[in-house]
Amino acid sequence: MVNIAVFVSGGGTNLQALIDAQAAGKLHSGAIKLVLASNSEAYALERAKQAGIPTAVCSRKALGSQEAFEAAISGELTRYKIDLIVLAGFMSILSAEFTKQWPERILNVHPSLIPSFCGKGFYGLRVHEAALSYGVKVTGATVHFVNEIPDGGRIIAQKAVEIVDGDTPETLQKRVMEQAEWILLPQAVERVSAQLEKERGI
Ligand code: GAR
Repeated sequence: MVNIAVFVSGGGTNLQALIDAQAAGKLHSGAIKLVLASNSEAYALERAKQAGIPTAVCSRKALGSQEAFEAAISGELTRYKIDLIVLAGFMSILSAEFTKQWPERILNVHPSLIPSFCGKGFYGLRVHEAALSYGVKVTGATVHFVNEIPDGGRIIAQKAVEIVDGDTPETLQKRVMEQAEWILLPQAVERVSAQLEKERGI
């Protein structure tokens, strides 16, 4: 069994999709052992508690430096013997030094079809605002590995979602989550976990 940590910053609906997939037996090659939040206000922490999953808070601001922030994260990962990290709406930046220690062991879900509307400054509702203001007719979600380039790691899965007349960033975000993110992320986590189990014999 692969030990998974899910990193969160906000509402945690993607975390919830992973928790639900685990309860439904759709995520069976890995188990969520830790939910790590970048701030103590994240509602995702409440979801983790309700599911009986241990939580930790590592705030870049409170810890004072990127080094201290990542040392705290690494401490939690060691403590829970984590094999795989899933960024599910995690809004803090991880340095190249950190990501290099986890080659193809960090997944991220991004709310657009990479390479559109991604990279520095594109997160959350901003991604959907950019898609609407550009006027694209199709957007979607991408699950990819994380490397030192923001949203630049190998793509694992993508799903397209249509934009409809009258969409606002909020309605579009909801549709992309419902039709793409919440389906794609648990599938990708299961696939990568199964592969890892096979490789490592765990
Ligand atoms: C999701 O739409 C996720 O794709 C996005 O933030 C939202 C988090 O929602 N992530 C990014 O924009 C990363 N660049 P959630 O907390 O309800 O899962």
